[in-house]
Amino acid sequence: MIHTTKASKALEIKDLWKVYTKKDIDIDVENGDLITELDKSEDAVVAVRGVSLAARQGEVFVIMGLSGSGKSTLIRCVIRLIEPTSGEIWVNGQEVSSLPKKDLTEFRRKQIAMVFQHYGLLPHKTIIDNVEFGLKLQGISEKERRERSNVALERVGLKGWENYYPSSLSGGMRQRVGIARALVMDTPILLMDEPFSGLDPLIRREMQDELIRLQKELKKTIFFVTHDLDEAMRMGDRMAVMKNGTIVQMGAPAQILANPADEYVARFVQDKRRQIQMADEGAFVNGESMDEIPGEGVMDHISRES
Ligand SMILES: Nc1ncnc2c1ncn2[C@@H]1O[C@H](COP(=O)(O)OP(=O)(O)O)[C@@H](O)[C@H]1O
Ligand SMILES: [Mg+2]
Repeated sequence: MIHTTKASKALEIKDLWKVYTKKDIDIDVENGDLITELDKSEDAVVAVRGVSLAARQGEVFVIMGLSGSGKSTLIRCVIRLIEPTSGEIWVNGQEVSSLPKKDLTEFRRKQIAMVFQHYGLLPHKTIIDNVEFGLKLQGISEKERRERSNVALERVGLKGWENYYPSSLSGGMRQRVGIARALVMDTPILLMDEPFSGLDPLIRREMQDELIRLQKELKKTIFFVTHDLDEAMRMGDRMAVMKNGTIVQMGAPAQILANPADEYVARFVQDKRRQIQMADEGAFVNGESMDEIPGEGVMDHISRES
């Protein structure tokens, strides 16, 4: 049966739960007593509990939260690298959560590419071979593979590096390869799980700018996971803040900054607000005007929003 949903929602997650268990047991997530019991148990982790959200076509949707809050579990459930315990996932009108296993490969190939924190490049393959590897698995001709991989490498600023091996590249460059490898698949949706978290701050910022620039051209739907508020503010059209498997607040980054829903979110935004306040007062930090330090874009958001 083909299910359809509103096309403007590229990615929709409905009441998603993931409970990791040692034994394969059936879990009725609506049974509150059972969930409480599982929370106490050493043999189970309730990693995602009743998450619902929808990312629009062309939007960068950020999931932010402390380590262990369930971000990776959530993003991996979207392509069923992890099988959800219950709930629905819809991608461009298709219900992924009910797809038979045999249809998953085809679905992933057409719809979604993923960029991981640890680039996952194949060390014994050259950069271009790494980029075209996914296309090769699909049986695409060598000529087309090369063409598409060259375009992707050029997009991420790595023209000229085709025949090097990953070990000759810096962390930032390796992640550029990771991004090229995702872009070459030509999918409408990109999932990125802390893609820049392993990079030095300056490189990290450069990569963020680069992705923002690329996104202006590509207009993909990007589902972006980070534990860093600065990054969330820079990258996200909207964001959801996760805590202990649930979404505690969702909205435009500037709204969240201005009105944190609870203590947890407030703690995230505290430093950021202090920075803004200091900038307002014309304070100087380390001899530099706050206007010139990373994160200043927030001011624009705020004045536009309020
Ligand atoms: N394969 C697994 N088996 C058991 N527990 C897991 C597994 N993967 C993650 N967890 C647990 O699920 C919770 C959420 O983890 P994760 O989704 O990795 O969070 P985040 O990406 O936000 O750091 C954590 O308590 C983590 O220890
Ligand atoms: Mg994670």
